[in-house]
Amino acid sequence: MALQIGDKAPNFKANTTNGEISFHDWLGDSWGVFMSHPADFTPVCTTEIGKVANLKSEFKKRNAKPLVVSVGTKEGLTPLESHRAWIKDVNETQKAHVDFPLVEDPDKDIANSYGMIHPNANDTLTVRSVFIIGPDKTIKLIISYPASTGRNFVEILRVLDSLQLTANYQVATPADWKYGEDCIVVPAVPTEDIPTKFPKGHTIVKEYLRTTPQPNI
Ligand code: BEZ
Repeated sequence: MALQIGDKAPNFKANTTNGEISFHDWLGDSWGVFMSHPADFTPVCTTEIGKVANLKSEFKKRNAKPLVVSVGTKEGLTPLESHRAWIKDVNETQKAHVDFPLVEDPDKDIANSYGMIHPNANDTLTVRSVFIIGPDKTIKLIISYPASTGRNFVEILRVLDSLQLTANYQVATPADWKYGEDCIVVPAVPTEDIPTKFPKGHTIVKEYLRTTPQPNI
């Protein structure tokens, strides 16, 4: 069965452009953002890898580590040679300094274990998958983009903010929420407990829709 939110993220050992890793150990207490790219030396992927590198401080602020797998490597090169040569292009064209690991996955074992290959779209290359993995190593978010659409990394950072907030407070975040905006008090909190739990104030829009200023700022 396909991986779902709440499942344990499959662990794996892999060679990467930064050396061998054992995924769960490499994550440690961090959040993980594990992404698949259809292929090295392709235009959309090149912009995405550059964007992730240029957002390094944003991932760091959120204690989140990006990791990338790309199964489409250049003929005549080993997967790691291909990744490393591609990184040079990314750095040059995207004004970036890629220092997060790109995983080699010559037999597609890792991509298959995460369901990153959608055979009806393409039976050899991955789609653009995003898995956000919490420090408890469970999957918190899954998004699949088609190969033709580059990911929205503002959205990925926004979800990390929401996940990290809702992991610590009894709130949820409304549609299009952004860091700093009001949050929703979860239904499990009785209305009479809201003033003590959320001393910054609250608004009762409906008995099932109660909002409060973002509690962690
Ligand atoms: C790209 O990254 O540009 C790309 C990769 C595979 C298929 C289509 C586009």
